[in-house]
Amino acid sequence: MTTLVIDNIGELVTNDPSLGDGPLGVVAGASVVVDGETVVAVGPAGAAADERLDAGGRCMLPGFVDSHTHLVFAGDRAEEFSRRMAGEPYDGGGIRVTTDATRTTGRAGLEAALDGRLAEVHRAGSTTVEIKTGYGLSVDSEAELASLAAEATPEATFLGAHLVPGEYQGRADDYVELVCGPMLDAVRGHVRWIDVFCETGAFDADQSRAVLTAGRDAGLGLRLHANQLGHGPGVQLGVEMGCASVDHCTYLSDDDIEALASSDTVATFLPATDFSTRQPYPDARRAIDAGVRVAIASNCNPGSSYTSSLSFCMALAVRDMGMTIDEAVAAVTTGGAAALRRSDVGRIVPSGPAHMTILDAPSRHHLAYRPGVPLIWRTLGADYRLQPAGDQT
Ligand code: NIG
Repeated sequence: MTTLVIDNIGELVTNDPSLGDGPLGVVAGASVVVDGETVVAVGPAGAAADERLDAGGRCMLPGFVDSHTHLVFAGDRAEEFSRRMAGEPYDGGGIRVTTDATRTTGRAGLEAALDGRLAEVHRAGSTTVEIKTGYGLSVDSEAELASLAAEATPEATFLGAHLVPGEYQGRADDYVELVCGPMLDAVRGHVRWIDVFCETGAFDADQSRAVLTAGRDAGLGLRLHANQLGHGPGVQLGVEMGCASVDHCTYLSDDDIEALASSDTVATFLPATDFSTRQPYPDARRAIDAGVRVAIASNCNPGSSYTSSLSFCMALAVRDMGMTIDEAVAAVTTGGAAALRRSDVGRIVPSGPAHMTILDAPSRHHLAYRPGVPLIWRTLGADYRLQPAGDQT
C-alpha cells in the first residue's frame, strides 16, 4: 500500500487531548501519515512517506460527522421556502409534497439524485453521513428508500413515522400499526436506526413510544425528532427510551435539560432548520453549561433545511446559539460521532480512519469568521459511497 504524508499543516485539530493542546488536541506545524485508509502517524511536520501532500500551512480537522440528513428524495420545495420567507409558517405538511414526488420517481432517478447529494456532502467536508428514509411512507416505497440509504452509508435510518400519509388521514393509529409491523419488517434488514417525528401534527408521545419500542425489539438503535416547533414530550421520551440522540431541541425546558444532562442521549441541534423556518435558535449555551452532550448536524432535506454545509451550521451556532468556535467544531466531529454511537470517527489518531478535511484557511476560527465562503480545500476519505452507484468499475 502506498503511504501518504500530509505535511506542512499549519493547525491540526486531532480531537485527542493526548496529541495536542486543549480538548481539541490542537497541534501547530503538523504532519499526518496515512497508509491506505488508515492514519499511521500524527506528529510534527517533516515526516516521510511515498507521496506528499503539502497543506501549505492550512488547517486540517477530522472529517465532519453529519448525523442527521434526509438525503433520499425527489423534487424540491423552493416555492414553499419563498412563501415561508414571505411570512407563511412551517408546519411540516410539505413532507407530503416530497413524498408524492419521491413515490413517482424510479429507483434510478432517486439513486442518481442521492449520488449528487453525497458528492455535495463530501465537498462540504463531511466524511460520515446518516441518511433517513421518510419520504416513501408506504411499505414498498420505504423499503426502497431504506435499501438506497443502506447501499450508500452504514448509518441508514428508518423514518416511516415521519408524517401520516394522505391515504391514512384521520387514521394515525392505523398508520402507526403499519409502521410497527409490515413496514418495519420490510426495512429492518437494511437499517441501523429507527426514528420518529414526535411533534404536534406528526406523532404524539404514545405513538412515538410504540414506534421506538417496535424498533428496539427489532434490534435497531433509537433516535428521535423532538421539540422542533414547540415544547413537548419528545425530549423526555427520547431520554426515557435511551435514544442515542434527540434532534432539533429548539425548545428545551429546564426539565428537558436536566433529563438530557443526566443521560447519555446527545442533543443534536439543527440550526440551518431554524434559519430556514424562521424558528428561534436553541439556547445551546444553557444546555452545554448544564452538562448536556451536544452535536450539530445539517438536517439536509428539501423542506426545512436544504443545505449540506456544516460550516454554515457552525457559523449559526457561534453567532446565535452561544457556542464557542471550539464547541462548534467539537459538535460536528466528536459530537456527531457520539450521536451515532461511534468512537472511530470524528478524530485524527493513529490507527483511526483517514477521514479529514483541510480548510483553505489557517485556523478553525475561519469556519465561523468567514460565513458563506467555501472554505473546504480538500476532503479525504469517507465511509459512505462516493462513486456513483452505476459507475463501479
Ligand atoms: O427534520 N421535522 C421533520 N422532518 C424534517 C423536515 C422534513 C420536510 O419538511 O420535508 C426535519 O426538519
